Amino acid sequence: MSFNLRNRSLLTVQDYTQREFRYLLDLARDLKRAKYARTEQKHLDGKEICLIFEKPSTRTRCAFEVACHDQGAQVTCLDPSGSQIGHKESYKDTARVLGRMFDAIEYRGASQQGVEQLAEFAGVPVYNGLTDEYHPTQVLADVLTMWENCDKPINRISYAFVGDTRSNMGHSLMIVGCLMGMDVRICGPRSLWPDAEHEQIARDLEAKYGARLTITDDPRAAVQGVDFIHTDVWVSMGEPEEVWKQRIDLLTPYQVSPELMEASGNPRIRFMHCLPAFHDTETKVGLRIAEAFGLTNGLEVTNDVFESEANIAFEQAENRMHTIKALLVATIGD
Ligand code: CP
Ligand code: NVA
Repeated sequence: MSFNLRNRSLLTVQDYTQREFRYLLDLARDLKRAKYARTEQKHLDGKEICLIFEKPSTRTRCAFEVACHDQGAQVTCLDPSGSQIGHKESYKDTARVLGRMFDAIEYRGASQQGVEQLAEFAGVPVYNGLTDEYHPTQVLADVLTMWENCDKPINRISYAFVGDTRSNMGHSLMIVGCLMGMDVRICGPRSLWPDAEHEQIARDLEAKYGARLTITDDPRAAVQGVDFIHTDVWVSMGEPEEVWKQRIDLLTPYQVSPELMEASGNPRIRFMHCLPAFHDTETKVGLRIAEAFGLTNGLEVTNDVFESEANIAFEQAENRMHTIKALLVATIGD
């Protein structure tokens, strides 16, 4: 059994075995402790990392930048207007250029095929910083956060993801829990369930690692007895504005409210969200949707749940940095 992740890309969760994923979690914990104890050592001195963001980001970009600075690497950040990628130059050609200058590349954009092509032709590790299909670095942080917030071995932890289950987060949380042998409840209206191909990836891992995967449209049944309830925005980046109405109609019964938290029957239930979240009207989009549809107490999560002690989404956000650092150290570190 090898834990040598040198030169590996991370394009989807299922690229990794359970033990490899576990190794990244252990390393992230060690690096987090070292940073807190001021004993961190630099394993990326002199490395050059390229960050490509074709979609906006706060957490992922900052997590990569801070992790690189902590470890001695330099970053170059390309935003949609700052590069030729996709407009005048193919993923394949971009990969062959950047691979000659950088030690690793992070890519966020719509296309999973695009990030896979970058990895195929760059000759250096490529990390998926979110596509329409997957968000693997996010769920690395999510599992670390659940592990840190529950007195159980990882494979005894149970969680529900409630909302748009055929999104990048729905796919990734369904698959990562099965990879880690966890009790996973994926819950949303049937019309937004993962397709057969994504479910099959999860089912194969469920069988391999002794996980328990439930896909249901009943939110109260989904959360019964779980340790964590996750949700995500109802309309993801890149989706047209017009889908808001349909999503609100479909997903309002799946809003994470105090009643849903209580339906878990777990007084220690914790709320998780990859963020950003629509829980109040303090954002332009939150305000516009609230005014248009008369939703005054949040969208995917109510403001009272979001502002409660049960919310560990900000710890989850911090863990993006520790886990991304672990990924960098494991794959290109000295
Ligand atoms: N959760 C997440 O990926 O956040 P950003 O879009 O801010 O990177
Ligand atoms: N599903 C969301 C995740 C954001 C981190 C989106 O793609 O917009």
